[in-house]
Amino acid sequence: MENFTRSYLVRSASNIALIKYWGKHSEQLPCNPSLSLTLTNCYTESSFTVAKDSRGALEFTLEGKQKEGFDSKALKLHQRIARDYPQLLDFSFNVDSRNTFPHGAGIASSASALSCLAQGFLEAIGVREQGLIGHYARLGSGSACRSVLDGLSLWGTTKLIEGSSDDYAVPVKDIDPTFLGLRDSILVVSSEEKEVSSSAGHALMETHPYAKRRFEVARENLEKLLISLKNGDWNSFIEVVEREALELHALMMTGIPSYTLMRPGSLDFIVKFRKWRLESEARAAFTLDAGPNIHVIHSPEDTHLVQAFIQDWMKSSGYAERVIEDVAGRGTRTLEGKGRA
Ligand code: PMV
Repeated sequence: MENFTRSYLVRSASNIALIKYWGKHSEQLPCNPSLSLTLTNCYTESSFTVAKDSRGALEFTLEGKQKEGFDSKALKLHQRIARDYPQLLDFSFNVDSRNTFPHGAGIASSASALSCLAQGFLEAIGVREQGLIGHYARLGSGSACRSVLDGLSLWGTTKLIEGSSDDYAVPVKDIDPTFLGLRDSILVVSSEEKEVSSSAGHALMETHPYAKRRFEVARENLEKLLISLKNGDWNSFIEVVEREALELHALMMTGIPSYTLMRPGSLDFIVKFRKWRLESEARAAFTLDAGPNIHVIHSPEDTHLVQAFIQDWMKSSGYAERVIEDVAGRGTRTLEGKGRA
């Protein structure tokens, strides 16, 4: 066997769901379609050093240090790819990752990390088809398959989008220019460890009394959101995005066991933000992931308005620890050569 070593960097941004994926079945397939915005500044970058040496060794580090939880998902993904592509075991991998965003900031690191790894492993064996990268990113962590694509992407079969699939994400193309370059101001209300992992949250939906209706409502919300995006309708965009966020939290609160993931600061923000928006007419909607932190998705034209409101709220309430500014961006990509970009 010819021996060689190759190095490359893979970068993948996190994404924030506007229509939430909450509930799965079979091998990580979604119970309803979801739609998200791939970000720019909040990303994982993994440096791959790959040797063709048939040892099939794997070494993972996070900023140069060993990390357990992350390793097990990474290991599982490697094994899963090797099941379909045994030639993966002809390579030894040394993978060092770093995140640009802080742990516990309410930004999904599994989405960026697992899409990065999926693309990085597949790169070694020359598999570069986006659908396949999405497929394996999904097996790593469901929401990761949406990070493979730029901007707004949809994961899950729906007759509303041709070519949509439960297997991988597809781009949402029919978008009015008012929704291009969306901004996301991420308010870190609490950086405490998440009370419930997303795996436990998905499991909650298996016996949730409202599950059946939720999966129908998610589809209805998706249809409304797609129409808003197409027609450039900010009012209905705001209505749907906020309803989705609150539904996700309502599902957790009414689950068995029940979880309350919002904190007083989250609720204080929501109440004041809605009042302010009525007066300012800003094109801005809040959403939350499975945690207390708030994402304010807004038009780039209203960034100043939104930032001024957030600064005032932070000063007067004292609730938020920090704010991270982000914007719609590119999907997973491989950057040749070693060294940080
Ligand atoms: O990809 P997972 O299994 O971490 O699930 C993500 C679930 C949410 O972040 C709460 C919603 C979503 O669609 O991203």
